[in-house]
Amino acid sequence: MSASDFYQFLAQRRSASVLIEPCPDRSTLERILQVGGTVPDHGGLKPYRFVVVSGEGRQKFADAMVNAGLEAKGSLDEKKQAKLKSKAFAAPMQIVIVFSPEEDDKIPEWEQMASASCTGYALGLAANSLGFGAVWKSFGFKEGSVMKELFQLRENERILGWVNIGTEKERERSPRVPLDLKKFALHIT
Ligand SMILES: Cc1cc2nc3c(=O)[nH]c(=O)nc-3n(C[C@H](O)[C@H](O)[C@H](O)COP(=O)(O)O)c2cc1C
Repeated sequence: MSASDFYQFLAQRRSASVLIEPCPDRSTLERILQVGGTVPDHGGLKPYRFVVVSGEGRQKFADAMVNAGLEAKGSLDEKKQAKLKSKAFAAPMQIVIVFSPEEDDKIPEWEQMASASCTGYALGLAANSLGFGAVWKSFGFKEGSVMKELFQLRENERILGWVNIGTEKERERSPRVPLDLKKFALHIT
């Protein structure tokens, strides 16, 4: 791939809207996860880990999301529960990003979260580079007790959403609107 093709790949990246089977096989998944481990990381703390959900695991993920919603709100109507559950089945595979900070005198927690957040972008790009579609998703509640157990979350761990991965259905892509650099980029000379 030429440098200009690589630039186009980055500049035209789009999240997938519809993801179907097939999803990455084991070795492709491992290659994607390896790219997750290449993000900028002050002190090399690796303040993240991943939980992969696929197949019947998605039902457990769906139930955990409903449990989290119920614990947060006290009750949820059927429609809201169905909407939450559908999130787990929106793609054949999810890579959940767990923020897993370390106690460190030099590297504050915000830097560690910045690093962990980069993994979502990296995983998506890695999936795209291997021919799969991807989109980062979340569900709007704090992790509930069922999710904490399912993902084996320690007390200080949080989930930063997950990256849905699968085969992207053909679709019209709207071209990216260029960033207004006057507004978003200050250049000090
Ligand atoms: C942490 C995080 C959570 C997100 N959660 C959702 C979500 O639950 N639902 C959604 O439609 N988009 C969500 N997004 C946004 C999409 O991943 C995506 O960036 C957005 O649809 C814009 O598409 P694009 O990436 O092609 O520009 C989330 C993004 C981030 C960074």
